[in-house]
Amino acid sequence: MPVPLGPGGPTLVTTLEDSKDVLVRSEDFVVPFNVSRERIRSDRDAVKHTPPLSREAVARGLVVLSEELDRCTAGFAGPDIDTLDVLRGPVSRSTAAALLPEADATQRDRIADLVLGWIDSLAPVIAAPRPPRRWTRIRRTESRSRHLLITGLAEVGCEHPRARATALAAGTQVPIAAGAWSLTQLACRPHVQTALRADSSLTLGVVWETLRLFPPTWLLPRVSTRDVRIGGVPLPAYSIVLVSPLALGRLEGLVPGPDEGFAPLAELDPTRWRNPDHRPGAWLPFGAGVHSCPGRSLGLAQLDAIVAWASGFDLWASRAPGIDASRGLAPAPATIDVRPLTRR
Ligand code: HEM
Repeated sequence: MPVPLGPGGPTLVTTLEDSKDVLVRSEDFVVPFNVSRERIRSDRDAVKHTPPLSREAVARGLVVLSEELDRCTAGFAGPDIDTLDVLRGPVSRSTAAALLPEADATQRDRIADLVLGWIDSLAPVIAAPRPPRRWTRIRRTESRSRHLLITGLAEVGCEHPRARATALAAGTQVPIAAGAWSLTQLACRPHVQTALRADSSLTLGVVWETLRLFPPTWLLPRVSTRDVRIGGVPLPAYSIVLVSPLALGRLEGLVPGPDEGFAPLAELDPTRWRNPDHRPGAWLPFGAGVHSCPGRSLGLAQLDAIVAWASGFDLWASRAPGIDASRGLAPAPATIDVRPLTRR
């Protein structure tokens, strides 16, 4: 049954069926804002859909990610290492490599820096209580960074630079946050690190469990375009409806739990997904319908590689990180202590 969050407030859908219904009925429920928090006024303004990435694109992204992680290895030691910071370079370059086959390495690295610049300038836009107006300082800074990126993409011969800029930003910001969640969660759980070192097939289980407990894109907002019903409940046109992968990820029935011998649903248990009959992802961490994530396979491969790389270190955090929900979900602080394994 959908839950209204206060009078006149948004409505949260609470079941998988209703969530899929909202995401799949893309004529009845539209995405209200683009990534810069500008209202989408017509289909013409809507983001051009990015097709799912090819195997070749994912492979290109993975090669660059592993080179970049190798480069980070020497500096990945000491107290208070900021995991969000460490992953910025590797992930941005990896996603740029996947999405920009036309760019050489120098162009790709420059574009990756411009993507990070746009993401940084978007942060205060997204975190502001109301979308900032056109001529405010933060809007001007954001607009300048966006144009620099779009111009840079056009210069390397990219065909749809606007759409590509959006895909690059989505495909950089979200895996960085997800990767930082994986590393900070591992740092709080030495026993999971030990299990991972003994059995590398658990890597993907750690990834899925992190995406279940801390999906970076934890709220998917939609606006109804006409009077609609969800789960039998009538909603007027222009209602805001929220689908939440975070809430779905805690639903019994979608996730194997203690009755099947696994840890309670609030705990990170990578063994949950060892049995091929238990299909991960039912909680929609990559969305569903026309706006579902085209970078799903790249994102999963990047996270798998990041967790595998991190299992070569001893990660430690004295307490669980807090949550920064100002633009998706990110750990805050995202810092951990890192020691080389050989020192033990
Ligand atoms: C762990 C990694 C990732 C997660 C958890 C994730 C999650 C999501 C989710 C939940 C959506 C749907 C948003 C909605 O319905 O409102 C989405 C959309 C999108 N994602 Fe990802 N994503 C990830 C990685 C990537 C990567 C690597 C790319 C690079 C291509 C990417 C590009 C996009 C784009 C362009 C959209 C918008 C699709 C549209 O509106 O048509 N994402 N992502």
